[in-house]
Amino acid sequence: MMIDTHCHILKEDYDNQDEVIKKMKENIIIVSSASPKDIDEIIELIEKYDNVYGTIGIHPEFADTYTEEDIQKIEKNLKNSKIVGIGEIGLDYHYKDDNKENQKKLFIRQIDLANKYDKTIVIHSRDAKEDTYNIIKTYKKETTKCNMHCYGYDLEMAKKIISQDITLGIGGILTFKNEKNLKEIVKELDIKNFVLETDSPFLTPEPYRGHINEPYNIKYVAEKIAELKNIETEKVLKETTKNAIKLFNLKI
Ligand code: NI
Repeated sequence: MMIDTHCHILKEDYDNQDEVIKKMKENIIIVSSASPKDIDEIIELIEKYDNVYGTIGIHPEFADTYTEEDIQKIEKNLKNSKIVGIGEIGLDYHYKDDNKENQKKLFIRQIDLANKYDKTIVIHSRDAKEDTYNIIKTYKKETTKCNMHCYGYDLEMAKKIISQDITLGIGGILTFKNEKNLKEIVKELDIKNFVLETDSPFLTPEPYRGHINEPYNIKYVAEKIAELKNIETEKVLKETTKNAIKLFNLKI
């Protein structure tokens, strides 16, 4: 079994959504919200398909524009047992760094919700390494589980993060020819720290780079991890599936 722990396979990007999900029928897909407007469709998907779970939250890109209704909607839907986490949430100083305080406030507010409802935190973090680490270390309850999606920082930070019992989401970037940093991290750290993700429709792995991504493609990420760690792909799938089940408390 394979688990895509993070993707956005919504209708606006997929006119073959049903087919994409059915291709994963022996496997599990966790769909994340990138925007508050995604939440309704995620609820529909988790109700329609047994193998689909969701995480909902407000991305830092909406730190200046989200509403109280958005927060209330998240809080209400966290009571659904197939909503297994809050995300993606976090800090992104890449496109906008003049609203750091608003981003931090929104991040902390949603960490508090994760703590309150015992849901897993799915972090998005870009160009905000130290602030992300400090906030999560300060505000996350010890028992709240956490994953850093699409990990893109250095090995040193990866070691600090895993020491907090936070997993690293590994996706298609690992397969890119010029990528060195993530390959080093995968070689160096124990597989118990990794879960697989596609971040579909983005970051399509080799050999399909240039095409739209889909959850089934995590098998290429698993193959790359196997090659780098010199182990069988089956073992990578078995271990990362186990890690994802634990991370999201999946009852399967
Ligand atoms: Ni994403």
